[in-house]
Amino acid sequence: MKISLSKKTPAELRVPAVVIFYYLDQKNSQIKALGQETEAVIERLRVQKDFTGKQGQFKLIFSADAIPRILLVGLGKKETMTLEKLRVAASTAIAELRKSPVSEAALLPPEMPGINQQTAIQALAETVLLSTYTFEHYKKQSEEAAPLNEIFIVSTYSGGEKALKEGEILGRAVNMARDLGNHPSNVATPSHLAKHAQELSKNFPKIRVRILDRAGIKKEGMGALLAVAQGSDEEPRFIILEYHGKKSGAPVVLIGKGVTFDSGGLSLKPWEKMDEMKFDMAGAATVFGIFQAAAELKLPMNLIGLIPASENLPSGKALKPGDIVKSRSGKTIEVLSTDAEGRMMLADALDFAKNYKPELVIDFATLTGSIVVALGDDIIGAFSNRDGHLRGMQRASDTTGEALWPMPLYKEYEPLIKSHVADLRNHATMRYGDAIHASLFLQNFVDFPWIHLDIAGVAWATREKPYRAVGATGSGVRLAIEFLKNYKKRK
Ligand code: BES
Ligand code: MN
Ligand code: ZN
Repeated sequence: MKISLSKKTPAELRVPAVVIFYYLDQKNSQIKALGQETEAVIERLRVQKDFTGKQGQFKLIFSADAIPRILLVGLGKKETMTLEKLRVAASTAIAELRKSPVSEAALLPPEMPGINQQTAIQALAETVLLSTYTFEHYKKQSEEAAPLNEIFIVSTYSGGEKALKEGEILGRAVNMARDLGNHPSNVATPSHLAKHAQELSKNFPKIRVRILDRAGIKKEGMGALLAVAQGSDEEPRFIILEYHGKKSGAPVVLIGKGVTFDSGGLSLKPWEKMDEMKFDMAGAATVFGIFQAAAELKLPMNLIGLIPASENLPSGKALKPGDIVKSRSGKTIEVLSTDAEGRMMLADALDFAKNYKPELVIDFATLTGSIVVALGDDIIGAFSNRDGHLRGMQRASDTTGEALWPMPLYKEYEPLIKSHVADLRNHATMRYGDAIHASLFLQNFVDFPWIHLDIAGVAWATREKPYRAVGATGSGVRLAIEFLKNYKKRK
């Protein structure tokens, strides 16, 4: 999809379709440029209340003036307008345009109180790329492709090109993370992730990569990661990414859970929906997406990415309930459920992060079903030992529309994850509140400012959502970049 910025009017552009956004019960002077008759028709539709500009409403009209198709899209009340409402409205527009026989269309960004043009143009560019994403890698016969292949964003704003470019970088990074997630586990193995890391460093000289294989992981003393990996014939990997955007200074470390298939191990999951556990490396995909975007945006900061990657399978060599393993930190873990594998792998990655004396560590993990029970499939569960960082993440969430809710590291539950025979147990003495127990478990391996994002609910969509097709969502990439940009400014 080509996206360009144009200072011309839609009539000068001679596009076959134009999208105009409307606030509820308000005029829009942008229609003046469409020709007198068209203007009169649209105004009549509005006055007659055939089209009011209600949120979610849209109407395609045809005209004999210069531009044959005008797509009117409602934004709802002007006073309550948000950036996310613009994304949702734009994704409605793109979906409609894709049903039309047009290959080009122009979008006219609306005036938004309190939101600058830069942000609006960036959001529109992002949304165009996110809304047109498809994954057809394994289809011999691809679905009939929509003819739409170029979008003009009409704006005379001076920073428009930069905004457009940023939006495209983010859209591409999210779509790349979606691709990684959508590949099935027989393709997206730990070594496939490692290869992806190497490619990333080939494309971006500022990204360096180091990869540990099973022997290297053993040498590092990562007994918890090794324990998860021991049931699988597929080699595990520990992937280390380094992005140098600044001469010196402590890095921010990003950790992504990379379970390329989570069968549960001997604590086997039921067959229904087990296929979805190919997405259990979504955290890893998110970290890759963040690195790609950071390098393209040339963020002036240092980042480390850590990805513990493994399958979780049952076999004659597999980890068994009751086993006790020694983590990299020296703390021992009693395995109550081999299905609580993510927290074990993250334990070793968090401990490894201490090497870098990080300013902040953020982990992304499809960690618990419990967070999905608590918050549903739209909201990230956010845990942190620093309220300020959590607030920063909430502000970023307000901008990117990736909903997030603060969750407690509730100390009183700590006894539930103490073991009688080891230092810790990987599953509490009760099931309720597992998202919190898992976070408290992770906190045992943390001695730095830390945010844990449980993305189990949001990492893949099982229903169509605005600008998110069914499948991997690439959730967290835009959120983290927005957070890091402001984090850098705050310092
Ligand atoms: N990868 C799963 C968490 C998950 C569940 C993600 C559903 C997305 C949707 C994780 O490894 C897991 O299996 N967690 C168990 C933990 C339990 C055994 C303590 C769970 O949530 O059931
Ligand atoms: Mn599991
Ligand atoms: Zn898992």
